[in-house]
Amino acid sequence: MQLPNWLVTGGAGFIGSNFVRSVRRAGCARIINLDKLTYAGHLENLADLADDRDHVFVRGDIGDATLIDSLLREHQPAAIVNFAAESHVDRSITGPQEFIQTNVVGTHTLLQCALSYWKSLGGGRAAGFRFLHVSTDEVYGSLGPHDPPFTEDSQYRPNSPYAASKAAADHLVRAYHQTFGLATLTTNCSNNYGPYQHPEKLIPLMIENGRSGRPLPVYGDGRQVRDWLYVQDHCDALRLVLERGRAGETYNIGGDCECANLDIVSSLCRLLDDMYPKDAPHAKLIAHVADRPGHDRRYAIDASKMRRELGWHPRTGFDDGLACTLRWYAEHADWVAAVSTGAHERWIEANYVRRGPAAVNGGIK
Ligand code: NAD
Ligand code: DAU
Repeated sequence: MQLPNWLVTGGAGFIGSNFVRSVRRAGCARIINLDKLTYAGHLENLADLADDRDHVFVRGDIGDATLIDSLLREHQPAAIVNFAAESHVDRSITGPQEFIQTNVVGTHTLLQCALSYWKSLGGGRAAGFRFLHVSTDEVYGSLGPHDPPFTEDSQYRPNSPYAASKAAADHLVRAYHQTFGLATLTTNCSNNYGPYQHPEKLIPLMIENGRSGRPLPVYGDGRQVRDWLYVQDHCDALRLVLERGRAGETYNIGGDCECANLDIVSSLCRLLDDMYPKDAPHAKLIAHVADRPGHDRRYAIDASKMRRELGWHPRTGFDDGLACTLRWYAEHADWVAAVSTGAHERWIEANYVRRGPAAVNGGIK
């Protein structure tokens, strides 16, 4: 039986590479993987797929309509899954333009190309075509401590340039369904963690700093709450949405696992103490540093629509997921070294020096 082709964008990043790997392991589609390989995209994330003939990697930009049109013509995909984005909130504060370019203009270009491709398809293939846009819970803004979790009907109130750019893209995806009938699906997911996450993000940054005795820079009071989901659970949810979701719908995906940043860092310190007892206690490395401007206080996702309609629920508990993630980073020092050079080093220098001496030297609370 011939496998359907799926065009995946941003498939050399954290979630995209985990998704591509899990689809190829399941053998349910051939993947055309389009990625610009920004500082966040790495072929090392896909090294185990190097000999897979059903994974085709193409370096390019979702904003390049000529390239997208030719990929669609050549590979005739049954679906497009859009992960490509600038994804780091702190970078959107120091340099928002790239976020508008990729997340808004790039997504719109992809939609335009998808629409004209879809119109060119005949009966059954047109009816089966899907455009899955991978978005975030950050579009809903911030919750108070006693507010109910975000549902698919929560109001959009983005607070960072990143969140605003994702919100704009979500609106365009919706408009292409309402206006042109394109069979879109949008998912809004909470914070992911797990293998291959770029070490600029909270959990891998704390793991790597902790392993090497550097400060653990906690923004503000560290009581900000996120709803954490192991990346494989997100990938499973996305496949279900793609295969069984209703066109035009949005689906909230979350881990039902609210946790404050400082509690996560403390848990990681305990795990690091077990792994490297001679450096214990790692908690001495915790350094409170200047807060993120506009920092959202709390996110939480109500994923009952995913449970009800698609039978999905997260399988990985947070304690297991965190321990697994720490082990993965400890066993993949080569990967960490490969993705931590150049642009990453410059970012760490710029972001943390800006936050004051504790972020760099540690020990000061
Ligand atoms: P990431 O930063 O790790 O990866 C993004 C990938 O997109 C990289 O491989 C990068 O090279 C590629 N890319 C960037 N600009 C591009 C362009 N113009 N054309 C083609 N490729 C481009 O991000 P991630 O954490 O894997 O997130 C993937 C998607 O999921 C994003 O859309 C993000 O908004 C969304 N999301 C992430 C999380 C999370 O916790 N990480 C949670 C919910 C939703
Ligand atoms: O909620 C989904 C979002 O989760 C995704 O849409 C984003 O792409 C993804 O990056 C993530 O955004 P966050 O801003 O929540 O993730 P980050 O890992 O950057 O930060 C998590 C929390 O930890 C946040 O409250 C800020 C804090 N933090 C982060 C860093 C990097 C620190 O206290 N210190 C740090 O050094």
